[in-house]
Amino acid sequence: MQAMFDALFEPSAFSPHGFCLLWDPGLIWLHALSDAVIGLCYFSIPLALLHFARRRSDLEFRWILWLFALFILACGSTHFMAVATLWVPLYWIDGIVKLITALASIATAILLWPLLPRLLALPSPSALRLVNDQLSLQMEEREGNLAILQEHEALLRQSQKMEAVGQLTGGIAHDFNNMLQAIGGSLEMMERRIGQGRSSEAEQFVDAARKTVERAAALTHRLLAFARRQPLQPRSVDPDELIAGMEELIRRTMGPGVTIELRMNDGVWTVLCDPNQLENVLLNLTINARDAMPDGGRLTIATNDVTLSEADVVGQEGARPGAYVEISVIDTGTGMDATTKARAFEPFFTTKPIGQGTGLGLSQLYGFVRQSGGIVRLDSAPGQGTTVRLYLPRHADADEPETKAAGSGQGAASQSGAGEAVLLVEDEANVRMVAAEALRDFGYRVLEAADGPAALHVLHSAVRVDLMVTDVGLPGGLNGRQVADAARERRPVLPVLFITGYAGPALEGQLAPGMEVIGKPFALDVLAARVRAMLEAIPVNEARPATIPLPPHG
Ligand SMILES: Nc1ncnc2c1ncn2[C@@H]1O[C@H](COP(=O)(O)OP(=O)(O)OP(=O)(O)O)[C@@H](O)[C@H]1O
Ligand SMILES: [Mg+2]
Repeated sequence: MQAMFDALFEPSAFSPHGFCLLWDPGLIWLHALSDAVIGLCYFSIPLALLHFARRRSDLEFRWILWLFALFILACGSTHFMAVATLWVPLYWIDGIVKLITALASIATAILLWPLLPRLLALPSPSALRLVNDQLSLQMEEREGNLAILQEHEALLRQSQKMEAVGQLTGGIAHDFNNMLQAIGGSLEMMERRIGQGRSSEAEQFVDAARKTVERAAALTHRLLAFARRQPLQPRSVDPDELIAGMEELIRRTMGPGVTIELRMNDGVWTVLCDPNQLENVLLNLTINARDAMPDGGRLTIATNDVTLSEADVVGQEGARPGAYVEISVIDTGTGMDATTKARAFEPFFTTKPIGQGTGLGLSQLYGFVRQSGGIVRLDSAPGQGTTVRLYLPRHADADEPETKAAGSGQGAASQSGAGEAVLLVEDEANVRMVAAEALRDFGYRVLEAADGPAALHVLHSAVRVDLMVTDVGLPGGLNGRQVADAARERRPVLPVLFITGYAGPALEGQLAPGMEVIGKPFALDVLAARVRAMLEAIPVNEARPATIPLPPHG
């Protein structure tokens, strides 16, 4: 080892290179300076490469750069050796440095050639610019296409909307024309029979007209339900109790071919909704299930207390995450194809033959649940049966559930008045005339007003008024609710019965005690019974307002 070291650094055996140049100072320094400058330059190149490689982390073929750096470093070293050997004959070291340079240059030369095609395939800046330009063009084109697509989508949605509105209008017009035909024809026949002095034979037409009006009322009721505008009477309802109460009805509806399972999973939560309407929609669902299982099957009605997250209520306008009672109606029937499923909630959409379905069941359900603050989910596929899930918000501060609709007064034993004074506020002259006449028939004294200011004029006087019946939508700048509130300032216990065609914003929120609602159209005896019930509900110790006698027929 020592011998090898000595051989390398023992210069005595040779003459330095300067000797060959006869120690000519000009020649010596020409060589020395030139080699030193070349060596320095060569050394700076690997530094630049190193810096480049560090800044370009995404560099491909990084190893060839390292090889270049080694090769150039070695080249630089040979030049520094040339300077050294001018004065010191370190020819072994000089040779070894050259050998390293030779090896590095061989490796670089050999590896560079096969790499060349791959290096050439790397995108040049101009190629990148071209691709970039093409991409920008494509993006512009895509944005243009997107705008056209959105425009087409908007047009399609608009035309679908128009189609749905057309279907709705057509459906209503069709059904109403039939009903108007029946009512108009009946009235005409009554007129004829009475004119002929055969009044006793008019009864069948009275009957036909009344039944048709009931059908028309049921139709508008379902439409209002879809529009989320039906007058609801929400109460605290225990769904399990309500469903258990319907069991017998459901069994009769489904017939013997269908197995019925009620799964009330011990849910304890109550909901705030109109129990009559909830019964209606559940009955509609069981009828749908029955129609979907003509050869029998299984109907399951299940309830569960569930908590819905933000993700569960996404896209359900107005619905909030939180506690809900889930009511599922599951059948093993035919199921729905994609088109039926997509349109099932549309009013008048039905796949049933004429006379068997109006296409209002699910739309009514949808409107009712949404109006009650809940949401509906529909799962169905051909051959897989159908599951409809209703989610009604939990009624947190419920006391005792009242499940059954209370105090409607419908079918109350007595309708007759004992001369109590009723203020009737209604802008539609015919409606007012008929209702006033009926109330008088039932034994009430009736004061009539065609708008809010006229009603307030009476209420602010000393005239006796025991109860007010008022329409909600009124001309004259005051709606029925505002008239009622103003009336209560002067007559704090005055019972108020609202009669309304639909539940608009005026009826939103809780009504004060002693205020009730009845939906138009109502049967006149139902109106009278309701008036009677409300009058009887006034506590005996409440002082009646100051009164002056009314002339007969107010
Ligand atoms: N359980 C079900 N299984 C299969 N299809 C159903 C089911 N429920 C509803 N459908 C489909 O959805 C359509 C609309 O139902 P919806 O209850 O609104 O109207 P309808 O039952 O046809 O008529 P209506 O309820 O007014 O008597 C039905 O005609 C039927 O095609
Ligand atoms: Mg139905």
